[in-house]
Amino acid sequence: MKKINQLFYAAVISFLVVSCGSNTQKTEDNKTAQEEKTSQDPSSYDPKRGTGKFTKVDLGEKLDAKMAEEGKKVYDVKCSACHKLTDEKLVGPGWKGVSERRAPEWIMNFITNTDEMLNKDPELQAQLEICLVRMPNQSLSDEESRHLLEYMRQNDGVK
Ligand code: HEC
Repeated sequence: MKKINQLFYAAVISFLVVSCGSNTQKTEDNKTAQEEKTSQDPSSYDPKRGTGKFTKVDLGEKLDAKMAEEGKKVYDVKCSACHKLTDEKLVGPGWKGVSERRAPEWIMNFITNTDEMLNKDPELQAQLEICLVRMPNQSLSDEESRHLLEYMRQNDGVK
């Protein structure tokens, strides 16, 4: 009987998780699956900073318009296929508010160290279950990453 229940759940979940568009899929079952995954790796992962080479990113109080402009160029080529600037999902989550949701270190680490972060970050794993696509590493230089971060800040209204 128990087995049948489990099978039924698995079927229901796989139906729920077919699209990246809906936010209503965070069921308890999803959570448990995610916890199981992360519990395999009880390392000292810091969810605020992420993991990678950036430990401290200094942001100016004001926007660096030049950097943001450079960042836009990279966005157009390497990111716009999957990310909108609004809060709407495309392949990946929309970027609106991302610079407020995430610490600058987290963003810089994620976009330069994508695979390791995807393996370790519980929130990314939850997004992965919704989007069903692993963000590919974009081979960004440190400079490009910093420019992109500035562009995200501009998109979030920093002036
Ligand atoms: C092939 C599609 C694809 C491309 C290209 C892509 N991303 Fe992503 N991105 C994703 C997906 C999907 C996620 C959600 C996490 C996951 O499932 O891997 C994501 C998540 C993110 C996040 C976290 C967003 C949040 O709200 O937490 C950031 C930041 C990000 N991407 C930045 C970038 C940058 C910068 C580029 C370009 C250099 C880029 N992405 C290119 C698919 C993509």
